[in-house]
Amino acid sequence: MATPTPRPKFLDGGPKKMLIGGEWVPAASGKTFATIDPATEQKLADVCEGDKDDVDRAVVAARRAFESGPWSKMSASERGQIVWRIGDLIEKNKDELALLDTLDNGKPIFETTYVDTVLAADIFRYYGGFATKIHGETIPVAGSFLNYTLREPVGVCGQIIPWNFPLLMASWKLAPALGAGNCVVLKPAEQTPLSALRLAELCLEAGVPPGVVNVIPGFGPTAGAAVARHRGIDKVAFTGSTEVGKIVMREAAENCKKVSLELGGKSPNIILQDADIDAALKGVMMGMFFNQGEVCCAGSRLFVHKSIKDEFVGKLAEHAKKLKVGNPLDPETRMGAQVSEEQYDRILGFIKAGKEQGAKALCGGDSARATAGGGKGYFIQPTVFDGVNDGMKIAREEIFGPVIAALPFDDLDEIVARANDTPYGLAAGVWTKDIDKAHYLARKVKAGTIWVNCYNQFDAASPFGGFKESGFGREMGIHALELYTQVKSVWVRVRPQGK
Ligand code: NAI
Ligand code: MG
Repeated sequence: MATPTPRPKFLDGGPKKMLIGGEWVPAASGKTFATIDPATEQKLADVCEGDKDDVDRAVVAARRAFESGPWSKMSASERGQIVWRIGDLIEKNKDELALLDTLDNGKPIFETTYVDTVLAADIFRYYGGFATKIHGETIPVAGSFLNYTLREPVGVCGQIIPWNFPLLMASWKLAPALGAGNCVVLKPAEQTPLSALRLAELCLEAGVPPGVVNVIPGFGPTAGAAVARHRGIDKVAFTGSTEVGKIVMREAAENCKKVSLELGGKSPNIILQDADIDAALKGVMMGMFFNQGEVCCAGSRLFVHKSIKDEFVGKLAEHAKKLKVGNPLDPETRMGAQVSEEQYDRILGFIKAGKEQGAKALCGGDSARATAGGGKGYFIQPTVFDGVNDGMKIAREEIFGPVIAALPFDDLDEIVARANDTPYGLAAGVWTKDIDKAHYLARKVKAGTIWVNCYNQFDAASPFGGFKESGFGREMGIHALELYTQVKSVWVRVRPQGK
């Protein structure tokens, strides 16, 4: 059944421009690039291609807005209401935003409608509400002084985001930065620039003053590197690969920018002997195949107690075979296309390496272009590998695709050591009915998030971020305010008592 491809009006009217100082403008170079629909391999739109000159212009606009624009003079309450309104506008334009992300990224419309857009609206409301609750403290220092702190915005923030959750990553970045009173230069991923540009329109509609939000689409080594390096940017927030995260950190050293990084993962999902098997199967499926496996916290190392491993992995393969892979616009689809040809090739390369190293694909293990895409599109079959050992490439490296590696284990201390034997530390899952073991593992596993008898739970109020080479800094919750504010200590001499 062919679902006709709807075309959002947003895509009409020539190349999509970039937002600088409240104006929609072409790139200084005049260059554009194409963004494609990975499910059909067709071009969706041309987009103006930002580079250093455009980042320079955006930083000037952001600096002016931060130092002397209406944003800098606004009360926290007014600012909070604007940020809240962005959330309302996301909700109002939810179908269009969901469609844009599904077309640009290849992820199911089911997910963009019920997950991405919902969480995106929510985080703007969360930090809209926070604007009036950011304040300093009074500190009882020795001597005859009044000492208090001011919690001030950092200034101009550069934000570089990936393609796996285009609207949601833009929202995780913009909402806390704006709630705290900063100005932003946002660089969306070259694979998926569309929803960030539409979101920027909604920011203006919500009343965000010119220059407060600037969006520069473009490529990593040009536009992205210009953001990371720029001396006029006070803070850089990056989500993407660990490899590029390290580059961003080095570039940021130029002017001692504050840095926060949300990077890759190879998260363990641990099934103990006494787990509720049906619940764990559902959790493992969602933890791995949600968003085509293009999730930084994907539970891609599946540790199952050896007494139940064969049974569990067999059932998992049955579930995976039944997953509906296909046209992302079909509301029944649960796995769409991988974002790009590059990712598609990369994932198939990992699958090949798995087979060559002796792992056995219980299901999948190949492209799904013929079956799911009618000969087009970057579709891959959900793949469950058994017969894996900890040293194999598929057990060590982030695949960022629908490929899970099953590994048996014996006892609790062994599993702690093996779960932690990775440079990453983003998340982990634990499935057990034993409260003692659950909390023991929650303490022992080195990761920024531990899910017990659940997986992929997110809330604007709960912090998210990595240990080790999965990055540092916490997004969401009260914790993200640490990234977007800085503390000033003010000392005032007070006349001593009795003088
Ligand atoms: P990437 O890390 O290259 O891209 C992420 C963002 O960084 C994009 O906006 C890109 O334009 C920008 N970027 C790239 N090079 C840059 C540079 N030199 N300076 C500043 N910005 C730069 O990720 P890519 O190549 O798209 O994907 C490769 C692998 O990275 C994936 O297979 C996956 O393993 C991992 N990845 C992890 C993500 C996460 O959420 N942790 C998200 C995306 C990718
Ligand atoms: Mg695209």
